[in-house]
Amino acid sequence: MKVAAAQIHPRFGRPEDNRVITRRYCQRAAQQGVRLVVFPELCTTGYNFSRKKDLLKFAEPVPKGPTTQLWMNLAKTHRIIIVGGLAELGGEGEIFNSAVAVGPKGFIDCYRKLHLFGSEGRLFSPGSHIPQVHSLMGFKFGMIVCFDWAFPELSRILMLEGCEVLCQPANLVLPLAQRVMIARSIENRIFTITANRVGTERTLTFTGRSQITNPSGDVLVRGRVKRPQLLVAEINPAEARNKNLTPTNNIIADRRVELYKRLVV
Ligand code: ACM
Repeated sequence: MKVAAAQIHPRFGRPEDNRVITRRYCQRAAQQGVRLVVFPELCTTGYNFSRKKDLLKFAEPVPKGPTTQLWMNLAKTHRIIIVGGLAELGGEGEIFNSAVAVGPKGFIDCYRKLHLFGSEGRLFSPGSHIPQVHSLMGFKFGMIVCFDWAFPELSRILMLEGCEVLCQPANLVLPLAQRVMIARSIENRIFTITANRVGTERTLTFTGRSQITNPSGDVLVRGRVKRPQLLVAEINPAEARNKNLTPTNNIIADRRVELYKRLVV
């Protein structure tokens, strides 16, 4: 089954143009037989807003807003799953840094980033729910957003709940997550799809190098540092069901959970 990371270059503060870019990438992905495509974090607005009131102009409700509606139409037309990041307008004027998932039958889920990076706290409220696992079209997938990579608890919880393909919309500025996601793959024996962006916004340059990894930690495909690209890999999600790291070591059964209590204090 083909999956893809759409490494795009969103234009700052131009959501209409960026939606057109996502439409083109969905069409290209579908032409190549891709069934699940992941777009970067905040891929319709851009990232580096200094004032919440500037971002508020572009934040949109989910699923009623224009981006989710467009993605729902594209998912239906092309019979694909789309995961991507956007600025979600919440109830009381709050903005969440969210990942949305839609499929051929419509809206699936919206996950609000839990771990805000750097000064994101000036713009966004953190989410308050852990991500969920969804089962669709042969994929058991979950979502984290960018800096959530630094908190292995999330991918662990998702794996324990059956996640086989971990989707990560990202706007990475450090060159670390690409390395860490290889570890997340190995320690959980899951596939990961990191869709990072490219380009520079004022003081920030994004690091590209989007990647798709398998449960052995192999990088199946990796993007360039600067160039927009659709990165496609063929995966068999069933490989993620084998949790044996060696013939005698099982990453679920061999845990010593009775000794891990300090993890949650
Ligand atoms: C990040 O969380 N955008 C680095």
